[in-house]
Amino acid sequence: MTATASLLEFNDVHVHFPIRQGLFKREVGRIRAVNGVSFDIKRGQAFGLVGESGCGKSTVARAALKLEEPTSGSIRYAGEHVSLLVGPAMVKYRRKMQAVFQDPFSSLNPRQKAGQIIAEPIRVHGLKPPSQIKAEVHRLLDLCGLPTRFEGLYPHEMSGGQRQRIGIARALAMNPELIVADEAVSALDVSIQAQIITLLEDLQRELGLTYLFIGHDLSVVRHICDHVAVMYLGRIVESAPSEELFSNPTHPYTRALIDAVPNPDPAVEAGRHVEPLAGEVPSPANPPSGCVFHPRCPLATDRCRTQSPDLQTIEPNHDVACWNSPQAKATPTTAQRNLT
Ligand SMILES: Nc1ncnc2c1ncn2[C@@H]1O[C@H](COP(=O)(O)OP(=O)(O)O)[C@@H](O)[C@H]1O
Ligand SMILES: [Mg+2]
Repeated sequence: MTATASLLEFNDVHVHFPIRQGLFKREVGRIRAVNGVSFDIKRGQAFGLVGESGCGKSTVARAALKLEEPTSGSIRYAGEHVSLLVGPAMVKYRRKMQAVFQDPFSSLNPRQKAGQIIAEPIRVHGLKPPSQIKAEVHRLLDLCGLPTRFEGLYPHEMSGGQRQRIGIARALAMNPELIVADEAVSALDVSIQAQIITLLEDLQRELGLTYLFIGHDLSVVRHICDHVAVMYLGRIVESAPSEELFSNPTHPYTRALIDAVPNPDPAVEAGRHVEPLAGEVPSPANPPSGCVFHPRCPLATDRCRTQSPDLQTIEPNHDVACWNSPQAKATPTTAQRNLT
């Protein structure tokens, strides 16, 4: 499938949570969870979003799923402004975009058997006549690599990987176009992770799905995604096709994340010198001045402490927000231009 038409577009999206205090619940500050995020996911693409915990990835997912309203900026789905969708158009939107979360144990009803869990959305949305629901459940189980007998099992009778397959089958029951997978494999053992990733890849091929795949483990995201955006403290700091990002990582934060991925060969890993990323992600209630990464950046200069870099295109489809990127160095700022 050629990926050309935009399916999900974020344009300068901000999601801020007010901090309220006192008797009158006055707003005393804001948590800037998502602070000016733009991206464009093409139909059929597997788009990855990575970054440490607290960077705002889940808030992006929740905004896409319309579980959180943006404070500003726009979200478009197949060209339509999502904030304007109401009534049947809104129901349709919610059906076309389905979520798979990290912990299927907490997102699956423990008192329902797998068959009921998968059948419920089909029944509620009237997607199949009642006489065909059972056959549809069997088709979905099979599609997700589970034998029919699983319809009679409760979530606690399954392994983590099997539960995640049920979570995926339930999402597919709605016949979605886009799957938002937020840390969908993060809680699983490495060998099980690989199986679920293979399943997601197979499903994408068979059903022409589009993915917004969120994770903190770059090696996993690299495997499944054609394009990866790196997020830090509410912003995208680098965005590139997967191969380009891994062969030519430019933002110091991206480099640190790539360095942190262990080499699968123990001999190579033992001889590898890894400079750990110092410190933690600062609070989005009180972000640093200038480039938000500067307090942890080995390359930070005075300019980084005072001016926030915008994303600049350094290669086709490869954008970086760093004053030390080749493009930023080559492009004089307005202030510099005014001096000459
Ligand atoms: N509903 C909320 N109210 C207040 N703060 C929130 C809310 N949701 C998320 N946050 C804060 O926003 C920041 C980003 O969170 P999140 O999107 O969950 O990041 P990630 O998924 O990358 O770990 C965190 O500091 C988190 O505490
Ligand atoms: Mg999260």
